[in-house]
Amino acid sequence: MSKGVKILAKDTEKTRRKLLQLGLLDTSKKIKKIGDYTIIPVIEPPAGFTVVETSFERVEKIKGFKERLKEFLPEGKSITSFDIIGDLAILEIPDELEEYEEKIAESLLLAHKNIKAVYKKASKIEGTKRIRALKLLCGEPRTETIYKEHGILLKLDISKVYFSPRLSFERERILKQVRDGEVIVDLFAGIGPFSILLAKYRDVKVYAIDINPTAYQYLTKNIRINKVGHRVIPLLGDCREVAPRNSADRVIMNLPKSSHEFLDLAFNVIRRGTIHFYSISPEQDLYSSKIELIKEIGRNMGREIEIRETRIVRPYSPYHYHIAIDIEVK
Ligand SMILES: C[S@@+](CC[C@H](N)C(=O)[O-])C[C@H]1O[C@@H](n2cnc3c(N)ncnc32)[C@H](O)[C@@H]1O
Repeated sequence: MSKGVKILAKDTEKTRRKLLQLGLLDTSKKIKKIGDYTIIPVIEPPAGFTVVETSFERVEKIKGFKERLKEFLPEGKSITSFDIIGDLAILEIPDELEEYEEKIAESLLLAHKNIKAVYKKASKIEGTKRIRALKLLCGEPRTETIYKEHGILLKLDISKVYFSPRLSFERERILKQVRDGEVIVDLFAGIGPFSILLAKYRDVKVYAIDINPTAYQYLTKNIRINKVGHRVIPLLGDCREVAPRNSADRVIMNLPKSSHEFLDLAFNVIRRGTIHFYSISPEQDLYSSKIELIKEIGRNMGREIEIRETRIVRPYSPYHYHIAIDIEVK
């Protein structure tokens, strides 16, 4: 028998938090429900509560991923890089650990009960659609999932469209800059993570463009799921052909490998406002040559510009970074 605090069921969460703060909650045992009451296990009886003696079920301790890996990987080796997208995981497995890939995947599945399948990156991100080959290592043979971020839902097929959960902070950073009434052109919208987020929280008009028909299909689905159809106009095609000209207060250019080839288009699309330019840069020259190029193209097109902000979005590969440059066009 152990000690527990007996409270009305409706007060469970509030009391649990209070006991946790006081350092009195016994997290090794499960909270017990009896009729309209719950009994919360405690290490020591707190003052001011009704304390009872009862038996509790023990909380099953789930071994973590890293802990499981230690059981079979060579000394000093581990897996540091993986993404969880909805209920699917994508692992990056170094060649030297390939022989352990299935056991590694099983370990991830066992450690995270909400993951239903584990894939491995089987190629680099390639082609115009910016997708990569994936290999199923364990779990359900399914590539469609729903990802939640900042209160929006994004449905996608991880094998057919580009999506990165690692840009979550960047998307939020852009959202903080956007004001009601803006016209935004998302030149490389994919399944819509930027477009839908901005339209969800601001009264804006967003043109969301993508050349990949499958990404466009998910984009239209996601517009519906998130109820932003009155604010987002999806466009299928090459942005060079379909982007509205001289219309935008903000342009998003998340095609980091080749966005520099579309800078002239971005200057034609923006009326005045901000261009969010993304690129991949080597560590020794994160911004200078990109800024020079931006200034040169801006000058040639007769646009007055100012570089407002630069930042590293995330590491991309050894010695290379995905970077952002915010360009103010006057
Ligand atoms: C790196 S992904 C970014 C997608 C999305 N912005 C995101 O953050 O998830 C780039 C997207 O641009 C699309 N794309 C590539 N070239 C394009 C073009 N010329 N016109 C329109 N979309 C293009 C690809 O299909 C891909 O979905």
